[in-house]
Amino acid sequence: MMKGKSLLTIGDMSQEELEDVLALSDRLKARGAEADERPLEGKVVGILFEKSSTRTRVSFEVGVVQLGGAPLYLAARDLQWGRGEPIGDTARVLSRYIDFLVARTFAHSTLEELAEEGTIPVINALSDRFHPCQAIADLLTIREVAGKLQGVTLAYVGDGNNVCNSLLLAAGKVGMRIRVASPKGYAPDREVVSDAEEEAAKSGGQIRIFESPTEAVRGAEFVYTDVWASMGQEAERDQRVRDFEGYQVDEALLKDAAPEARVMHCLPAHRGEEVSAEVLDGPRAIVWDQAENRLHAQKAILARIA
Ligand code: CP
Ligand code: NVA
Repeated sequence: MMKGKSLLTIGDMSQEELEDVLALSDRLKARGAEADERPLEGKVVGILFEKSSTRTRVSFEVGVVQLGGAPLYLAARDLQWGRGEPIGDTARVLSRYIDFLVARTFAHSTLEELAEEGTIPVINALSDRFHPCQAIADLLTIREVAGKLQGVTLAYVGDGNNVCNSLLLAAGKVGMRIRVASPKGYAPDREVVSDAEEEAAKSGGQIRIFESPTEAVRGAEFVYTDVWASMGQEAERDQRVRDFEGYQVDEALLKDAAPEARVMHCLPAHRGEEVSAEVLDGPRAIVWDQAENRLHAQKAILARIA
């Protein structure tokens, strides 16, 4: 039961809960904006962000309204938080006013502190370690195209970052075959990979880690990439652009993928870096459906937590 619980990582959900959220996302998407159920009626959802956001912020605000609730956007820098008020004190105070908190933070430990010190459920809207809402919307998108998740092969090419970590955990739970290709020093966290492998062993999925993008994409039905320098890593950008040379998802790399392979990206994208403009703006890309599905998936998450 997700009711009343926080969602900080995919590991907080059972396989059944993940499948249930995906099924509800489909139903909410089919029903459109006019939901006949309003599980957030009379509830206020705080949306507290330390970093920029287009998709996550807007889709959460819109989703809360469509479910009958009221979203309250809180830029961390405008709160006393921005002047050093302790996170725990902020969590305790917000818990006296609002019913749920959606938070985007730099450190994942900040989210954990918000959840531990407050008394309301906290939903991770991205931390340096995880992006669970993105991964759930991604599964929804993949299932719309492939008609299933079990046994579907996805290659993630690039930085073993927050998006990659959550994708590994989510895909492992639903029996997908995931391959990740990253340069030396940029592979996903070992602990995350081992958790994903454990899930895959139960679900019939498979997790494989490569250095070579060509090997990883061979025969893949979906090829996913994300930025080389995430928010907070701006100072490393030039070094990263050098280190990721050869990891661009372009038509040449896709020659080794399945003939009908689709390309995914959580956005925002840097055309000419992790993905070529030709691919991102071409017929293989399903990135706009991915972005739309954030709304449906997050409504399902909110409805189950409410
Ligand atoms: N993909 C994603 O989380 O985008 P935003 O940073 O715009 O929210
Ligand atoms: N990995 C990126 C994802 C942005 C949605 C970042 O953390 O900046």
